[in-house]
Amino acid sequence: MIDNKKVILAIESSCDETSVAILVGEELKCNIISSQIKEHIPFGGVYPELASRLHVEKIDYVISKAVQEANVSFEDLDYICVTKGPGLPGALQIGMMAGKVLSGFLNIPLIGVHHLMGHIYANEYIEKIKYPSLAVIISGGNTELVLMKDLLNFELIGQTLDDAIGESFDKIARKLDLPYPGGVNIDKLTKDRTDIELIKFPKPHIKGFDVSYSGLKSAVSRMIDEDIKNNLLDETRVLQYAYSTEVHLIDQLLNKVFLADKTYNIKQIVFGGGVSANSYLRKQALELGKKNNVEILIPPLWCTTDNAAMIAIAGKHLIEKGYFSSLKCTTNPSLELELPYED
Ligand code: KG4
Repeated sequence: MIDNKKVILAIESSCDETSVAILVGEELKCNIISSQIKEHIPFGGVYPELASRLHVEKIDYVISKAVQEANVSFEDLDYICVTKGPGLPGALQIGMMAGKVLSGFLNIPLIGVHHLMGHIYANEYIEKIKYPSLAVIISGGNTELVLMKDLLNFELIGQTLDDAIGESFDKIARKLDLPYPGGVNIDKLTKDRTDIELIKFPKPHIKGFDVSYSGLKSAVSRMIDEDIKNNLLDETRVLQYAYSTEVHLIDQLLNKVFLADKTYNIKQIVFGGGVSANSYLRKQALELGKKNNVEILIPPLWCTTDNAAMIAIAGKHLIEKGYFSSLKCTTNPSLELELPYED
């Protein structure tokens, strides 16, 4: 165990948030997030080159603000944790360079952290994970079911065969002329509504614990085009498409989640990633958890989108198990979860 006075500074820059957090022992002193969402809206999604430029512009300011808010000095820092991957290549590099500079100048250890490991361990700001656990990582770029028999022990048992769940939300929302990020705006439209008629979409029959979303995307897209041609795409119809998309994406996922629960007899299902903010998912997961007698852990809303607090708490586990990086370490845009990873 690292002692309760050790100070971790964590950096996250894998996509469209520049974030720095400071964790002292168990206490999260600050979690500064500079979001780029507004800048990416005109492009209907994250524009990678713009993301890199904005990280360069913001990173030093966010680091200074974090140190100031946590009321620590640079000399107080004991460890630097940085997202190593997966993510956008240019965006990852900026956080890593800042982390290496701090680690090198302060002569303190550097720890490369897996972004999805961060999403999983973000839950420990609420409660410690119990093993064996099933981690369900659902974000803009990932849809993964990961069996965790123990701390930092990851086995990928299911994933999307094509589009990620967040990507599917965003693509269908764009087709409906809803602004980026589409998942957030679909949720806003459908939240607390119980009066929307469901459209039946074809259900894929995929073996094991994998899911597939590209068929749904194509089917919805064709139906919307047909409606536009016939002048039928009014507000009620948009609402129907939004709700039906949400139900189909999430029900398919939860079917596989509870199938895995039965197969592996797990103690806890742990959610993580941007899509875990979805209201329908949160409600259904809790209800199904009760019905199937398995504990459900969903991160607090503040910790569902990308942030450095999650990198700090995952990094703390890596430090305790002795996983350190050198100053020569690289980022890896398609880093896999299983440890150890290459420097
Ligand atoms: O984890 P995240 O912030 O970034 C990465 O992809 O790493 O996830 C972003 C994704 C986007 O696709 C966004 O539309 C989706 O999460 N998302 C949601 C909700 N909030 C964010 N999808 C459905 N309902 C939400 N409430």
